[in-house]
Amino acid sequence: MRGIKYLLIITVLIIALAFLMTRLVFKEVDEDAESTSVTTETTPPETEPEEDENIDNAWAMFLVNKKNPLPKDYDNMIETEVVFESWREYYLDVRAADYIKRMIDDAAEDGVDLLVVSAYRTIEYQQQNFDNSVQDRVDRGMSYDDAYADTLAEVALPGESEHNAGLALDIMCEENQNMDDDSFENTEAFAWLDKHAHEYGFILRYPKGKQDITGIIYEPWHYRFVGLYFAKEIKESGLCLEEYYESRGWVDEDGKATKMRGPYDTPKEEETVTTTTAATEPKETMPPYSEQKVSIIV
Ligand code: DAL
Ligand code: ZN
Repeated sequence: MRGIKYLLIITVLIIALAFLMTRLVFKEVDEDAESTSVTTETTPPETEPEEDENIDNAWAMFLVNKKNPLPKDYDNMIETEVVFESWREYYLDVRAADYIKRMIDDAAEDGVDLLVVSAYRTIEYQQQNFDNSVQDRVDRGMSYDDAYADTLAEVALPGESEHNAGLALDIMCEENQNMDDDSFENTEAFAWLDKHAHEYGFILRYPKGKQDITGIIYEPWHYRFVGLYFAKEIKESGLCLEEYYESRGWVDEDGKATKMRGPYDTPKEEETVTTTTAATEPKETMPPYSEQKVSIIV
C-alpha cells in the first residue's frame, strides 16, 4: 500500500516537472520569436539608410544650380588637389580626388583614355567663362540679351556652378573635345562613362531631355560627384539630380532645397576653421583663362 502511495507521489512529481519544463521551453521560443520580429522591424532596408553616417560621402549630396547657389565664401572653404595633368593641372575637392583618379585608371585598364578638360574652377574663372561665352555669341551677330540668355543655358553663373564646388569635371577624350554639339556621346569614352561612372560616385549631371528641369543643355561630358550611394540610386532611378531631390521631398515648390548636406550643415565655427586651413592650398596655380586650349568651356 505504502509502495503504491510513493509511486503515485513520484508520478505526480514527474508530471508536474514535465509541465514546468514544457512551459519554460515554450516561453524561450516565444521570446526568441518576439526579439527576431522586433529586429526585423527596426532595421532599415539596406538600400535606404536612415542616417547619413551609413551613406558613403553623404556630405557631397547638395544641389548647386540657379535656385541653389553655393555659400559666398565656398571657394575658401574647400581644399582641392590635382587629379589630372595634361597641358595644365586639374583640381577637385580632396574628398573626391581618389574616386576620380581610380575611375580614370580603371578606364585606362579597359583601354579607354579619358581626358579631363575642365574640373574645379574659381569664381573668377567661372565669370571669365561666362563673359567669353556671351562675347563669342555677340561676335557672331547675336544681340547682347539673346547672347546672355543663350549662355545661361550652357554656362552657370559664378557660384551656381558645380565646378565652383570642386565636385564636377568635364570628361572627354583625345578624339572628341567638341562642346558645340552632342557628338561626344558617340565615343567609346562616353559609353564607358555612361556604364561605369556611378561605380565611382559620379552622375551624368545634365542628361538628354532634361533641360526644362535642369535649365542646362544636354552635356554628355559633365560629371558630378555625389558619392557611391546616391550615384547608384540616381543612376537606377533615371532621374536628374533636381528630380531626385523632388522625389525625396527635399525641395520646396520653388525648387529651393530643404535638405542640404555639405557646406550647408556645417556649423558656423567649423566653417571659420576650415577657411583658415584651406587658404594655403594650391588653387592659384591655375593658368590664366587666356592660356586655355579652347576659347569656350561650358
Ligand atoms: N556648364 C555647367 C552648367 C557649368 O558651367 O557649371
Ligand atoms: Zn562642366
